[in-house]
Amino acid sequence: MSSLFLLFLLHITIATAAQLRPDHYLPTCPNAESIVRNVMKKALIREPRSVASVMRLQFNDCFVNGCDASVLLDDTPTVPGEKQALASINSLRSFEVIDEIKEALEKVCPGRVSCADIVIMAARDAVALTGGPDWKVRLGRLDSLSPWLEESNEIMPSPRSNASYLIDLFKKFNLSVEDLVALSGTHSIGQARCFSIMFRLYNQSGTGRPDPAIEPKYREKLNKLCPTNVDQNVTGDLDATPRVFDNQYFKDLVAGRGFLNSDQTLHTFTQTRSFVKLFSKDQSVFFKAVVNGMLKLGDLQSNQRGEIRRNCRVVNKR
Ligand code: HEM
Ligand SMILES: *[C@@H]1O[C@H](CO)[C@@H](O)[C@H](O)[C@H]1NC(C)=O
Ligand SMILES: *[C@@H]1O[C@H](CO)[C@@H](O)[C@H](O)[C@H]1NC(C)=O
Ligand SMILES: *[C@@H]1O[C@H](CO)[C@@H](O)[C@H](O)[C@H]1NC(C)=O
Ligand SMILES: *[C@@H]1O[C@H](CO)[C@@H](O)[C@H](O)[C@H]1NC(C)=O
Repeated sequence: MSSLFLLFLLHITIATAAQLRPDHYLPTCPNAESIVRNVMKKALIREPRSVASVMRLQFNDCFVNGCDASVLLDDTPTVPGEKQALASINSLRSFEVIDEIKEALEKVCPGRVSCADIVIMAARDAVALTGGPDWKVRLGRLDSLSPWLEESNEIMPSPRSNASYLIDLFKKFNLSVEDLVALSGTHSIGQARCFSIMFRLYNQSGTGRPDPAIEPKYREKLNKLCPTNVDQNVTGDLDATPRVFDNQYFKDLVAGRGFLNSDQTLHTFTQTRSFVKLFSKDQSVFFKAVVNGMLKLGDLQSNQRGEIRRNCRVVNKR
């Protein structure tokens, strides 16, 4: 009777999403979190931007069939990976930091720590190491057996998005308006390409004119960074303090100095503006909200089968 019940429970854990908990690796890899953090510390010293790039992976991973490290898979001769997706190509970066973390973990506890959990731990560390809040993450995810390229193209939002589109999109993931604004606040660190803002500098919504929400001095600066004939891979800072995780991003939005259209729109639209103003005035409220948002983002899961990859870029050999 009780073993039958156990079987029943076991079946449930296989068929539905894994139970995530903070101490998941305590029995199998107790030092996992300190190993991840140490590699992230080294990455921060080597190339400050890389920790922001690693944090971004959590968004592009978790929105596409849950947090399953599908974003990390390289193309194969037969299957193109999510790295080809519109929101990723020539843009997602610092996969080598994830490789370095994985190698360090495989040395100490081979085959134990999933790449999906590495992304979640490393994203948290990126925030904590650049002056933001620190928090406990829930762990126990599995890695996908394939990439989800079409899904990524369908789901990941464009930098042109307006707030009402983003509100609806985030709602599909049970993320609130507050979550949307707080999670956008992760643009407090890192950079983006001219490619992502050319339209708003020179032809917003096909008007032949710039986005009127850009403050004039800031627009001059962006025009210099991204003239019409620029190499569109040139990058600019997402806020005025791109190496510090703080609420400067929201102060910038209030001043019309948001880099992406998807950033500035949060101040333009009334549904999101109140949160922008609140976070610009009170950093501790922003920090609480962004921790909450990152946890909810990290809880997104699919019901697909999974594994613990040996190499985050390729599925294990059968
Ligand atoms: C609200 C919807 C979002 C949109 C439309 C968006 C869009 C973008 C775009 C277009 C870029 C720059 C791409 C490029 O030009 O190369 C970028 C960078 C970045 N995004 Fe987002 N993003 C969103 C939400 C998020 C979330 C939820 C996170 C955090 C989990 C995040 C973290 C980052 C970071 C850290 C960077 C800088 C990366 C680097 O310096 O390499 N974004 N985002
Ligand atoms: C927001 O963007 C969506 C999708 O691009 C568009 O259909 C809608 O008209 C826009 N809303 C406003 C108020 O600009
Ligand atoms: C959102 O919440 C509803 C109700 O709790 C649930 O049925 C649905 O699966 C959730 N969606 C996501 C993407 O987590
Ligand atoms: C601006 O975009 C619209 C619509 O995409 C296009 O028809 C127009 O030619 C563009 N104007 C300029 C100056 O590029
Ligand atoms: C950016 O660089 C990549 C190669 O690194 C190139 O393939 C791509 O065309 C460039 N993109 C733009 C918009 O110039």
